[in-house]
Amino acid sequence: MSIKSRLEQEISTLEEQAPYGAKIPLRFIDLFCGIGGFRIAFENVGACCVFSSDWDKYSRLTYAANFGETPHGDIHSVAVADIPSHNILCGGFPCQPFSLAGVSKKNSLGRKHGFDDEKQGNLFFSIADIIDYHKPAAFVLENVKNLKSHDQGRTFKVIYDTLTRGLGYQVHTKIIDARHVVPQHRERIFLVGFREPRYFEFPEFPKTEPKLASILEADVPAKYTLTPKLWAYLQAYAKKHQDAGNGFGFGLVTGESTTRTLSARYHKDGSEILLSQGQRKNPRRLTPRECARLMGYPDSFKITVSDTQAYRQFGNSVVVPVVERIAREVMKTLNKSPLAVPDLVLAEPKATSSAQKKNEIKSSKRVNKSGK
Ligand SMILES: C[S@@+](CC[C@H](N)C(=O)[O-])C[C@H]1O[C@@H](n2cnc3c(N)ncnc32)[C@H](O)[C@@H]1O
Repeated sequence: MSIKSRLEQEISTLEEQAPYGAKIPLRFIDLFCGIGGFRIAFENVGACCVFSSDWDKYSRLTYAANFGETPHGDIHSVAVADIPSHNILCGGFPCQPFSLAGVSKKNSLGRKHGFDDEKQGNLFFSIADIIDYHKPAAFVLENVKNLKSHDQGRTFKVIYDTLTRGLGYQVHTKIIDARHVVPQHRERIFLVGFREPRYFEFPEFPKTEPKLASILEADVPAKYTLTPKLWAYLQAYAKKHQDAGNGFGFGLVTGESTTRTLSARYHKDGSEILLSQGQRKNPRRLTPRECARLMGYPDSFKITVSDTQAYRQFGNSVVVPVVERIAREVMKTLNKSPLAVPDLVLAEPKATSSAQKKNEIKSSKRVNKSGK
């Protein structure tokens, strides 16, 4: 039995067993799932994951340790028809340029099965293919902020045009800085799309900013403190660039700070976020658990891989509470009927009796006669 039929059978059994009137959870798929940041967020708002995919060996280990299932591998090796049907497609896909030849082809979007020709292995088109085939009610895509300016704006234009003109979705985009929910400056672009026109607004975020001290561990092993050699190297490197008039260098922070963006290369020297330990001690890197917290992961999240892999995984991930707030708004939108705007939903039509109607007509005539 194919994966798809098995999952669909499980879902229909669940639906049959649900008590009358019970709400069936919305189903989502977790593409380029990494370690499951989207999954935690959408599960927290009551959705149910029916498919996941990531080809990275170590991310799959972390995912399996936390969610009890190993994601499918390379997305190109999964037949679109084998992916179970779903209401919401989620994906934080890698940002790649489109070759110009490919772009002009993809721009002839009116064509039926416009995605069936060469795709140059571009991962965005794997997403587009899945949307084209399954037509989920909504999708949530995440990417680096500079997706908009990448390749002089061409990458974003292809993506936006494909989703809107090509696939017919209504797309909302916003750059969100996670600093209002975690002590990290991390700007990411979110694209939220709906198959049918629906009222949607991105969530509001608090004005306050949490401080780094709120996520620090109490007892940190000495191995996280920089060796004298590495610290001397980083200082010399920063000085060289300062003297040359540019701003490269390490990011020294204290408990009162908001950090720079945690990157996937934090394991190399940790230079973007170094925690000061006072005059007498070299600064230290954050521990993997602190990085997990910096990305908004709960402490129950299991870290079963090496420090190097853990740093890579958290640096590649999404900030869970940011996605969770978006997920909540998406769920609200999907629970309303298409084209509903708040006023239309809230303003229930009044039941009027025929006597009332006659009175209303009479009084409107009086108003007209008096010219008011
Ligand atoms: C930016 S990360 C997404 C991280 C994820 N959102 C999270 O919360 O951890 C992109 C992911 O795409 C995966 N990836 C890249 N190419 C892939 C492919 N061809 N098939 C499946 N996964 C792929 C990478 O392994 C990486 O984990």
